[in-house]
Amino acid sequence: MIHPSSLIPVKQPTSEDIQRFFPVHMQPAKTYAVDALDGEIIKLNQNESPYDWPLEIKERVCKKLLSQSWNTYPPPYPLQLEHHIANLCGVEKGSVLAVPGSSRLLDILMSYLGLAHKSRWVILSPSFALYEHLAQSMGLKYIHWPLESDFSFSLDTLPSLCSGDVVLLATPNNPTGTQLSYDMLNNLVSRYPEVLWVCDSAYYEYSDQPYEKLLKQHSNLVIMKTFSKSFGAAGLRFGYLLAAKPYIERLRVGLLPFSFNHLSLLAIEEVLSDPHILESFQSHSRTVTCEREKMYQNIKDISLRNPFDITPSKANFLFLYWQDFTECKKVYETLKKDNILARMFTHDPTIKASMRVSIGTPQHNELFVKSLSRIYSP
Ligand SMILES: Cc1ncc(COP(=O)(O)O)c(C=O)c1O
Repeated sequence: MIHPSSLIPVKQPTSEDIQRFFPVHMQPAKTYAVDALDGEIIKLNQNESPYDWPLEIKERVCKKLLSQSWNTYPPPYPLQLEHHIANLCGVEKGSVLAVPGSSRLLDILMSYLGLAHKSRWVILSPSFALYEHLAQSMGLKYIHWPLESDFSFSLDTLPSLCSGDVVLLATPNNPTGTQLSYDMLNNLVSRYPEVLWVCDSAYYEYSDQPYEKLLKQHSNLVIMKTFSKSFGAAGLRFGYLLAAKPYIERLRVGLLPFSFNHLSLLAIEEVLSDPHILESFQSHSRTVTCEREKMYQNIKDISLRNPFDITPSKANFLFLYWQDFTECKKVYETLKKDNILARMFTHDPTIKASMRVSIGTPQHNELFVKSLSRIYSP
């Protein structure tokens, strides 16, 4: 260990240097952050699956990892896995681009279409914070597509669209849990064939609206998906895009070769080759969906006598909102004292007085509801 006094002090640039090399919109204050709590916590703030992988499967994957040579690169692109994923989704070969986490897709799409091609972006609002965070840090041209006051999708609020625009939406939407119906998406992609519709379906396994069939008629639709939620693999970083082959081929150029490590490739391969593991993840998603409905009802009951409301959700989380920011913050802090970590959205003025709570294990959900009812006990 080097003694602190022997560490090389790094010369700091002047503010002129910073401005010379970095665009002004890239301010350090804008790094993406999530709240944390120390100790034994009930973590309901990042929409992760409450179910880790069984030890037996982890051991199987680790055994394969041990027999891999770590001094050699993995394949530049996991084409074999992409074929498996195409099968899983029921789309033809060549229509899948695998990426290390679906957020990387946003990076690739925004760099290529927004920065290089200068497309205008139309971003659903409120929605996944990373959309606007990336658009801002890249200095992209973008406008909002606002949700209605009850957080539903509406054609009335859709800005007028031009040829070459890219619309980015999450459905089911994070953080509101509301979703765009299949018919409405069908209507939009048909009505605006010169607009690219990027549909982020990170939570689709908890919903009742698969959109893949639309890919058959509409080349202006691309669908993002992830293994981070219902597959319980947030720590492995694996996501993918479903789109027409020419788009996949062009976007692959934006993905650095060798982006995946041996562990994530082996783990996802293991899941895709074992129908029992796939079935167990589907069963977890069903449990989460049932828990969501139960928890929704319990929270709705509390809300009827109190100054907040909750939206019905099609994802693995619930969205609670208040009129008053101080009241919402008070509830958030009281939950924290009970070691329950939910998520607030203080960066977004449209949902500043709101809270998202992920569906956890049945015990954790019960503790959340108990804590909330204690806060609001007469
Ligand atoms: C709507 C949405 N899309 C994408 C992601 C990121 O997924 P990944 O872990 O695959 O990067 C999230 C994560 O919370 C999300 O809410």
